[in-house]
Order: sequence, then structure tokens, then C-alpha cells
Amino acid sequence: MAVESEPRNAGRRIITQEEAEAIAAKARPDQSPPTRRRRIKVTRREALVYALAGSTALVLATGGAALVQPDPSTDPFLSSFTPEVIQENVPGGFAYPRFKAGEFGGQFTVARKAGEYTAAEAPDLNATGKFYVVKVDDPVPTLEGVVAQQGIQAIYQVCTHLGCLIPFQAAENRFICPCHGSTFERNSDYVRGPAARNLDQFVVEVGDDGTIVVDTGKRRTGLPA
Ligand code: FES
Repeated sequence: MAVESEPRNAGRRIITQEEAEAIAAKARPDQSPPTRRRRIKVTRREALVYALAGSTALVLATGGAALVQPDPSTDPFLSSFTPEVIQENVPGGFAYPRFKAGEFGGQFTVARKAGEYTAAEAPDLNATGKFYVVKVDDPVPTLEGVVAQQGIQAIYQVCTHLGCLIPFQAAENRFICPCHGSTFERNSDYVRGPAARNLDQFVVEVGDDGTIVVDTGKRRTGLPA
């Protein structure tokens, strides 16, 4: 007798498409990446090393800045260079400060006009700019040539021996250095003492209206004694 075979899916329920997807989603492992933050562990020793390295770098950076930003008038070596020379020739000199008008290293507009000066009066000190304005009959040339205009010279106040600020002694009508006695004429010419050259001068511009502008960034070297 022939046995009737049962249909293959007998007794099983056929599920819908939505149910199949729900089951598949449950079975799928969570594929979203873990969101835990990585923590960098630094030991106390490492922290100390980092702190020391940071402070050393700061000290070196400060020292480097001091090397390119000295006060030229207080350093016997650097006082032989003007800011423009340092900026153009010294490695890192680009960082040397660009001076504003009215501060040493920059330009100064003198209060008096050129016509108000006479060749008989004492040199007129500008303490901020560290120069004397003086009217002379015969301008004294520098190593780089004559920089005076209309008989107006701007003489650097720093002694060419070792850099002391030099006063004008009206009684002697000369500049006499209080440090070692180097003496210079009213027009910057060397007279006696250990200095090896005349006093230096700054470049001067005299405008049509007599306005005097002294550029303390452009120092010119006094001629050898
Ligand atoms: S610094 Fe002026 S004479 Fe020495």
C-alpha cells in the first residue's frame, strides 16, 4: 500500500518578511565601534622630564632674544654696530626690534629748527636719543663721509673708548669723558685720551623749513685719531 508522504514544511509556520528581518537583526553582533577614549599614561618621572625640557627651552629662547635685542649703548662690542647693521648682517638679526620714532634706534624730530642754532652755543643734548645737536662751521667727516647737513651735526653721546656717556664741559668747550678722560672738540674731533677715534655721528636730515630729523638707527663711525 502506498504511503502518502507529508509535505516538507508540514507543521511549520511561514514567517513574514518583517519577522525574518527582526530575527536577523537580533542575531547580528553589534558592529558599532567601541567609543572608549584612549588614556595616555604619563609617569611622574616622565612628567618631570617634560617640565624640565619645557623650562630649558624657555630659558634658551629668552637668552636668544637677549642676544639679538641688547641695548647697543651699554655693550662695548655691540655699540660698534647700528641696529640696521645688526638687522641685515647678524644671524637672527631680523628679530632685532624696529624702533619707533622718538625712541633710541629710531628717528627723532628736533624741537628747534636748524636756523635757531649758532656755532657759538653749547651742544644741545637729547638724552632719550643719546645725541647732541651742534652747529659747526666746518662739518667733521666720518668714516662713511660727511653726514651733517647745513652745518648741523648729531654727535653720539657714547665715548668711543669704552662706551661711557660723555658730557659736554662748557667751561672747556669740549666733551670730556668722566671715565678715562678722553677729550673731544665741540665738533666731535679727538683731542687726547685713550679713545682711538672721533666721536661717532648720526645721519641728519634738514628739511626745507629747517626741521631737523636725526636717525639714531644710522650711526656713522668717527675717523681714527
Ligand atoms: S670710556 Fe671714555 S675715556 Fe674711557
